[in-house]
Amino acid sequence: MKKIAPSILSADFSRLADEVGAVEKAGADVIHVDVMDGHFVPNITIGPLVVQGLRKLTSLPLDVHLMIENPDRYIDPFVQAGGNWITVHAEVCPHLRRTIKKVRQLNARPGIVLKPATPLKTLFPVLDEIDLILIMSVNPGFGGQSFIPSTLKKIERLRKIVDQNRYPLEIEVDGGVKVENIRDVSAAGADIFVVGTGIFKTNDYEETIRKLRQEIG
Ligand code: DX5
Ligand code: ZN
Repeated sequence: MKKIAPSILSADFSRLADEVGAVEKAGADVIHVDVMDGHFVPNITIGPLVVQGLRKLTSLPLDVHLMIENPDRYIDPFVQAGGNWITVHAEVCPHLRRTIKKVRQLNARPGIVLKPATPLKTLFPVLDEIDLILIMSVNPGFGGQSFIPSTLKKIERLRKIVDQNRYPLEIEVDGGVKVENIRDVSAAGADIFVVGTGIFKTNDYEETIRKLRQEIG
């Protein structure tokens, strides 16, 4: 089952409860939460306190995308706050296996994220240990950027490797995904689609999510 994951980064934060309620009602499968620390990326966004608040607003899984340095230090607080999926960037994670184990011990789903320029081979040693691979299709830091076209080839290559080895993991794609291009991203082999501005900057979330689903069949 392919999944739509609205990224609340582009929601109206003065009405966060309404926004989360609206995308849940509109048929979202998971809520994508972008955590930025002003070091790994230039922007600063959400901490565990906000995740704790989000937890009360929805029964959907919270997909916590950690764009932070020293992610190991913050896994515990984000899971305690209610995060269900925890994805950490390979670029700032020197001991991937140890980090993955930590997430799993806390009963959350571990995933590894790759920036556009980080090669797939970074993941090869841990492919049989993770639940999610998050492929960035923009450089992390901000919503509303354009999808980098070379990502499609990267997803295709990863899909092949995952299928050939029957790894039980999902491929998630994040950045610049919209009604106009989600079909190509899906055809390349993605399972989960993070969509920020492509949902929250449209007027009718239900209509937009229906269109997104229609495109991915
Ligand atoms: C970017 C974030 C994304 C972002 C996506 O650093 O990781 O999740 O919110 O937003 P759009 O869909 O607008 O590119
Ligand atoms: Zn994200």
